[in-house]
Order: sequence, then structure tokens, then C-alpha cells
Amino acid sequence: MITPKVPHVIYGGDYNPEQWPEPVWAEDVRLMREANVNLVSVGIFSWAKLEPQPDEYDFGWLDRLLDLLHENGVMANLATATASPPPWLARLHPESLPVTKDGVVLHPGARQHYCPSSAAYRERAAGLVGRIADRYRGHPALAMWHVNNEYGCHVSECYCDASAAHFRRWLEDRYGDLERLNEAWGTAFWSQRYGRWDEILPPRSAPTFANPTQQLDFRRFSSDALLELYETEKGILRGATPEMPITTNFMGFFKPLDYWKWAAREDVVSDDSYPDPSDPDAPVRAAMQRDLMRSLGGGDPWVLMEQTTVRVNWRQRNAPKRPGMMRLWSLQAVARGAEGVMFFQWRQSKAGAEKFHSAMVPHSEPEESRSWQEVKRLGEDLRKLDGLLGARGEAEVAILLDWNNWWALELDAKPSTAVRMVAPSHSRAGFARSVLHSCYKPLFEANVPVDFAHPEADLSPYKLVVVPNLYLVTDGAADNLNRFVRDGGSLLMSFFSGVVDENDHVRLGGYPAPFREMLGLRIEDFVPMAEGEENGIVGGEGSHTCDLWADLIHPEGAETLASFAEGFYAGMPAVTRNTFGNGVAYYLGTHPDARYTKAFLQGVCAEAGAQAPLRVSSGVEVVRRRAGDVSILFVLNHGEEAVDVELEGPALDLLTGAERVGTLRLEPLGAAVLREQ
Ligand code: GLA
Repeated sequence: MITPKVPHVIYGGDYNPEQWPEPVWAEDVRLMREANVNLVSVGIFSWAKLEPQPDEYDFGWLDRLLDLLHENGVMANLATATASPPPWLARLHPESLPVTKDGVVLHPGARQHYCPSSAAYRERAAGLVGRIADRYRGHPALAMWHVNNEYGCHVSECYCDASAAHFRRWLEDRYGDLERLNEAWGTAFWSQRYGRWDEILPPRSAPTFANPTQQLDFRRFSSDALLELYETEKGILRGATPEMPITTNFMGFFKPLDYWKWAAREDVVSDDSYPDPSDPDAPVRAAMQRDLMRSLGGGDPWVLMEQTTVRVNWRQRNAPKRPGMMRLWSLQAVARGAEGVMFFQWRQSKAGAEKFHSAMVPHSEPEESRSWQEVKRLGEDLRKLDGLLGARGEAEVAILLDWNNWWALELDAKPSTAVRMVAPSHSRAGFARSVLHSCYKPLFEANVPVDFAHPEADLSPYKLVVVPNLYLVTDGAADNLNRFVRDGGSLLMSFFSGVVDENDHVRLGGYPAPFREMLGLRIEDFVPMAEGEENGIVGGEGSHTCDLWADLIHPEGAETLASFAEGFYAGMPAVTRNTFGNGVAYYLGTHPDARYTKAFLQGVCAEAGAQAPLRVSSGVEVVRRRAGDVSILFVLNHGEEAVDVELEGPALDLLTGAERVGTLRLEPLGAAVLREQ
């Protein structure tokens, strides 16, 4: 359960009543009841209304609003209102504004215009949160706390002087003395040796490549600087309400913040998710994001805090979700561990930058709109799913993800800058090439359940561990992976792994030094491919191509499963297999085409004994959640055609109440949630 104050699947959205005259609120709560809304996030952008001038507070409206919600049985996910400072903060403290790498000051007028290291912002935010916590700690509508909003979304790092000073303090904590910093940063190169702490700066725009370890540490610092803000607010809230769950909303695969570190400090993981309805891979991307959220919370239930009913307004072209998509994607989130489905936002704004972003209540005549009908239907559906509260996913495959590696892998001055961990949501071409997507998609298509895991996590629950491009690896992670295979696990690693240590220094001793023995090979050098360049790979079924990268592999015990077809390295291994201890380690020394990767990954899964919960035709997603002897099977049809699914045993359809045996028919974009008997 997400919060004991809402012992149901949570349903609701961001509620911004300050944009509306109070008489509209009565209509809001009436509609909330009609839609079975049980929780709304309140006050996210209310700082200017709550504290119109420094130390002048106006809580009257929020008192009235929370009372009204309570009278109507709607609980509040009360925000700390610190996401967008009021204009007076910048007037009194211009130094609180963030500064980009190029020295450009980001001014008020939009949102999130604060430097994470600003003393004035920190002090003022803490003051406001203290007031809110004190005032509402005992309010009966309070069900959980929503800290700030999407930390780092627009401003994830700041290069101002206060940030520079803060960065230095962070470095002193990390390294203790300058000698160690000089060593870690490799400052013997290009005459970069530091003699005094105050010579050290954030990696501001420079003539050419900035020191890679400086860049990497600045990323670590920037994630930590925002985390300090979260921790401060959390500390205040915890002091006031020791039992009340606290969250801050994530943004999926968001590169700037190390979400492993963040999630460990949250009571509940929550996420904002805006798949692009015009992207054929949207269900895959969304599933991957949902699996990440479940994994970040160690398998505990999480909340889909924001999604849109129909369309967003921040892409170049904002395609709508077709009828049925919103319901299907919402149920997908629940299938993959969510116990709350919420939207941005409750009522569509009349003014401001998001007035063309859909909401639960559209601009006019909600009752006549298809989106409101869908909102009501989803509310009814979710009400029937209380029986799944506490049921968990059961993955036997883990894909490793470490933000430190992600940051280091994508720094400049590499053999190839085309190797990316995750493609941005607007990039279709990037999707196919991004290393995480290319190994997640085949597993999604085969309905093999997957967790994400940190390379230093306990991997013993898994049969197969997939290691995409673990370029940066700590000693602890290297030991962990070697141990996993030695103890009988199956592991699949892809190219450019095990190359550097945590300081981004090359691990000498033949690439990939820490995994050479486990993989039974040595890599002499890397061959990055040009844009559009391909090679063939020979071996396995049919003929295949690969692109992006080739490793020059010399086997040292590994068996060659496929080799390169052309070029000066024709005949050298591209894909290998090695037994190590009681386990087996596969290596992909290139980026094969999607067909090869699919067959290969699915074969490795089969050998490791990792399976789908049910055999279904393509385009159908099946996910199981289980708690004790309660077993709930989600069957989701992402396709354009109706499909028949053969069930393995009798089941109760929780959404319709019907008993199901044998064949289950699902309409296009149809979904069933089955309690297996
Ligand atoms: C983010 C923010 C919301 C809103 C939505 C629009 O998720 O948290 O305030 O701006 O985007 O999609």
C-alpha cells in the first residue's frame, strides 16, 4: 500500500485550484467523486500564492481547499510548493538564479529558476516547508507528501560561483586532500595540476574537452546537490509527521540524477511518464520505464504520478492517445508494479504555458468528451483492483544500470560518441541504437520479466544478468559479476565494458581487464563504425548485419558463436560464449541487427531458464504479479487487431467479473486483469 490513508489503488492527478475561482472547486470535487478520484497532488506550484511577499503567508485558501477535499472523501498528496520560487526571491537575491555552463543567467518567468546551491533559496524553501508541515501535519486530508517537483527537470546543474564553492566542498569530502584529487583527475595531463582548492571550477565552457573526471565528478556533485535539497525538505516533513510517506516524482530514465541513490531515500517511488503516442515503440519504452521504477523501489509498489489523458504540449507535434490507449498504458503501469495512477493535471488550464496540455477535465463540457468518459472508466476499473495490493513482480532476468557508468560512457572524447545508453524520447533512430533499448526490447517482446539492478546489488535472485556497455566498473561491481557467474549464473555482456575504473582511468592489463578471465577473451582494440556503416556477422541462423562498433577479440578459451564477415578484422569473433566456474558468460563484441539480437537474447534466456508467464501472439503483453497464493495476470493487447489468448487455467476477470477458461478474446487496445484460480 502506498499510504495507509488510501487503502486502495490510488487514482487522481495534480490539482492546481489556485488557477481557478473558488466556485469552480465545488464542481471539481463533484467530478472527482464521479470519477472515483481518491488522491490529488496539491500545491506543487503554489509558493507565490502561499507566501506572496517574504514572510507574509496566506494559508486561508489552502485550509478551505483541504477541508473541502476531506468533506468529499478525496485525500491530499500535499506538495511542499518549492518547485517554482516567487518573483520576489530573484528580486531580493539575484544570486539565487541558476547559471549555465556558458555563463548565461536563467531568469524568472518560467519555473525552476533556482540554483541548487543557493543559500537564499535553501533558506526560504526550508522556511516555507516548515510552515506547511506545521500547519497541515494533523489535517485529516493529508495522505502523503510530495516534495518539490521533478528535481532537475529544467535545471539539473548550475555553474555559478556559489555552485563552484559547493562543488569544492563536495570534492574535499570525497578526496580529503588535493594530491588525491590531482591523482583521481589525472591532472598530469595537459598541465592541469591544481595547487589550491580555489583554482578548481565546475566544468564551465572551455577551449576543448574538459577533464573527464572533473566532468564526471560534477555530474555526481550535481545529483547530490539536488538530493541535499530533497533531504532538507524530507527532514522537516519527517520531523512533523514521522509516519507520513514522502516522495518526489521521478522522470524515468533521467540522466542527470542517480535515481538509485535518490530512491533509497524515498518512502515511495513515484514517476512521471509521457510516452509519445505516435511512436510505435512507445509501449516498449513505457514498460522499460515502469520496470525501472519498480526496481528502484526494490520491488515495492510505486505511483505513476503524472501522465496525460490525451496529449502533451511540449513536443514539436503532440499526437493524441487514441481511444483506449490511456487505459491500456495505465493498466500496463499497474501490471508492472504501480499501485497508483495519476495525471498531470486535474483541470486543463485556461492560461499559461500548459493550456494545450490535456487534463482529466477538459476545457469545456467534460461530460460530453471522450477523454472524460475514459477517465471515468479507468476510475471504475482501478476500483476493482484492490485485490492486487501488495502483489509483486517476479523477474529472473536483471539488466544492469549504473548512472556513473551512463555519465562516463556518454562523456566526450570517446572512440565513438554514437554509443548511447538511452535514447531521448523524441529520437526514433536513437531508440534502435541505444544499448539499453536494444537489449530490453527483445525481452519485452518475449514477455520475459525483467528487473533493473545496480552492478553492486545482490544478483543471486536472478538466473540471467544482462550487462549493457558497463564501460565504467568499480572493483566491487567487477567482483560481484565475477562471483555471480562463478556461482552458476548466466551473464551477457556487451561491447566496451570493463574499460575504466570509477575515476575514468583505463584498467590496464588487456581489455576488459576485470572480465577477461570470466569471458575467456582479450580485446586488442576497438573499431567504431561510421554513420551508416555496417558489417556482416556469420554464425547462427541466417545472415545478419551489425553496426556501430566492433571489438577486435582474441579468444582465450571462449567459443566463437559468430564472427565478422568483412574488413581487416573479417573472421575475428563477434559473439562468444565461455563457461566460468559453474556459470556461463556471453559476450557481444558489436551491435547486431535487431533480428539477431532478438534470437540471441531469447536463446540465452531459454538456456538460463527465464520464461514468459504465458505464450501469446506478438503485440500482446503479459505480466504477472503475485502475493502468497494470489496470482494476477495482466494481458494487454497493444495491437490494432483483436487477439485470442489461450489461458492455462481458469481465472476470474477482475474488470468484468466474468469467469474465464480456455480462450480469452481481447479487442484492439483491450486489456484483461485475471485472478488466476
Ligand atoms: C511535468 C511536470 C508538470 C507538467 C507536465 C507536463 O511532468 O511535473 O508540472 O509540466 O510535465 O507534461
